[in-house]
Amino acid sequence: MAIFFDEALKTFYLESKDTSYVFRINENGFLNHLYYGKRIAREDLTYSVYLVDRGHGSNIAGRPRYESLNVYMNECPTYGRSDYRESMLAFFFENGSRVSDLVYKNHRILDKKPELCGMPSVKGGETLVIELWDSLNSVSVELFYTVFEELPVILRHAEIKNLGSVALTLDRAYSFAVDMPDANWDVLALPGAHLRERFAERSPLSHGIFTVDSKRGVSSGQMNPFLAVLRKNATEESGEVYGYNLVYSGDFAFKAQVEQNDELRVVGGINDHDFAWELLPGDMFTTPEAVMVYSDAGLGKMSRTFHDLYRENLVNPRFVKKSHPIVINNWEATYFNFDTEKLCAIIDSVEGTGIDTFVLDDGWFGKRLNDRAGLGDWFVNMEKLPHGLTPIIEHAHKKGMKFGLWFEPEMVNANSDLYRAHPDWAIHAPGLEPCTGRDQLILDLSRDEVCDYIIKVVSDILKNNAIDYVKWDMNRTMTDNHSASLGKRGKELHHRYVLGFYKICEALINGFPHVFFEGCASGGCRFDPAMLYYFPQIWTSDDSDAYLRTAIQYGTSMCYPLSTHSCHVSAVPNHQCGRVTPYASRASIAHLGATGYELDTTKMDPDELAEIKAQVDDYKEIEDLVLFGDLYRLNDPQKENLFAEQLVSKDRSKALVTVMRPLAIPNAAAIRVYPRGLDDDATYFVREGNLTKKGSTLMNLGIIVPFAPRDFSTVTYHIKKVD
Ligand code: GLA
Repeated sequence: MAIFFDEALKTFYLESKDTSYVFRINENGFLNHLYYGKRIAREDLTYSVYLVDRGHGSNIAGRPRYESLNVYMNECPTYGRSDYRESMLAFFFENGSRVSDLVYKNHRILDKKPELCGMPSVKGGETLVIELWDSLNSVSVELFYTVFEELPVILRHAEIKNLGSVALTLDRAYSFAVDMPDANWDVLALPGAHLRERFAERSPLSHGIFTVDSKRGVSSGQMNPFLAVLRKNATEESGEVYGYNLVYSGDFAFKAQVEQNDELRVVGGINDHDFAWELLPGDMFTTPEAVMVYSDAGLGKMSRTFHDLYRENLVNPRFVKKSHPIVINNWEATYFNFDTEKLCAIIDSVEGTGIDTFVLDDGWFGKRLNDRAGLGDWFVNMEKLPHGLTPIIEHAHKKGMKFGLWFEPEMVNANSDLYRAHPDWAIHAPGLEPCTGRDQLILDLSRDEVCDYIIKVVSDILKNNAIDYVKWDMNRTMTDNHSASLGKRGKELHHRYVLGFYKICEALINGFPHVFFEGCASGGCRFDPAMLYYFPQIWTSDDSDAYLRTAIQYGTSMCYPLSTHSCHVSAVPNHQCGRVTPYASRASIAHLGATGYELDTTKMDPDELAEIKAQVDDYKEIEDLVLFGDLYRLNDPQKENLFAEQLVSKDRSKALVTVMRPLAIPNAAAIRVYPRGLDDDATYFVREGNLTKKGSTLMNLGIIVPFAPRDFSTVTYHIKKVD
């Protein structure tokens, strides 16, 4: 049991092994948050409620002046009844009122978390459901809390029902609110851009509202749906950290607010910018799921908790515990310039290297000679591939390799048969020429007929060809937010698009269970937990430069397990930034994820090809660590001239340490790395360096890294317990 209700105190205790989350039903019937953090005793916490008349405010109707909702910590804050901070919910009622009065009605405890309607979520057990009721407006709000005994995790979402006889509008429907009793915090977010996604950034919190959000229709590479709130003294390894992540692939917002009480409120969910949802009588709205992780040991423990939770309870279970394909992808090798012979030559060139999957990227369909035409026409381009896909697929299969194919089904080019037949299927605002991105338009997935079309064309190709792997891309963000089918309910478009996308994923990914689906959005511009529910790995960034990848993969690892980061060894000079990094370094960094290759192997000499085999063999040796291991980030590559990351097996018998020194420094001071997570008293053999030492020695005295005298060199250490 992780959920307790004390009837006398009217208090709920949500407990994991190491955490407590406590709130009560107060005398006025609303939910008064009391505590969230390290596990504490199960006792009366009302002494900590500090009520004071702060003046120039307001108080609860009919209650003393000091009883304002603005001075309580609130579990489900709404606007208009004396709480002026950020709300979790906002309504617009038929009579023009925006004011709701939600009070406790009842609660129940379920053994198993119910699935969320139309949206992916984390699997979970014991779940508290609390119903709040607004009798004036006949609105029911159910708050869901799922607790894990073994993991310091709470899952939250809400279901809002209109049980009245007139329509109402939801202007904000966030997934959670958490109040904390002081304001001494930093925040860490994952901002970025195409080619430099998720660069971790920490800043102090001060009075006002710190917001991370996306208005782009996707969870976005510009800001990830993740926010950590950290104690000022928290580091990678120590101090309190609260991590928040949203299982959602569309517009989101997290807000951290410090107001007059010098307390913190964190709220988050679907972005309410350009959002409104009409609830007709009897309708229900489900918010996406928020994941809350508490760590008393810094960012590292927070990340390991997210990783464990997602590997066990979120990522597509058909693939999460198995070897991922090791691909050769033709994109950076050929771009659009290929024919059957060239593709078969690539397949031939990697025979015997251990690469097990050939992925044919963009350019095989429609009139897709460049990126200005063809999206939407999912039929083989017979001028380019006169015998279709079959000879290439058969060739790959004959060589013992699987075959993967690129799609971008959510999109259409104006220069395509699909657009000529259905121009209205593309999202556009009436009377305006739609903005394009990469010369393409977005199909309106809020419309059933569009989703059905995508399901049918992709299914037909998967049915008619022996395809083992799909790379599912999405290469622009949304504009011209209007849907002819939604009329005045236009502000529902972005969320309905996301629901349409999940419907397509359900049909295709569950309809073709043997196919391995990789996610992609111009690289890592839609990397979120909901994507991971369907796609066991995501192309982390179009930036394949080994040096920049250290920071991208570092940031991505804040909440997403390494097995989900798709990472390729590519050519030098690097196609995105021109940098030349050593071949071995490119492999070492790509090995810290689901590894693969993306370069023209037909141009490699026998030594370079033999090196691929050696690299793949090496990867096979450490793959279990990538799939299941505990991650320790040994330093922050954005702050130092060093990147060092370690993976340790759960039983601590095996570890890998990968270190890169970006810039060579002559006559430099010794660089030491300090492994973590080993058994103090066990003896370990460090293969490189031929060292046999106790875990405590390695972790406290460190290992001196002998870098080669050149830029971007890496050293990897394979560490094994010997007794
Ligand atoms: C996106 C992807 C790339 C590649 C191209 C093809 O940019 O991120 O990996 O597939 O599209 O157009």
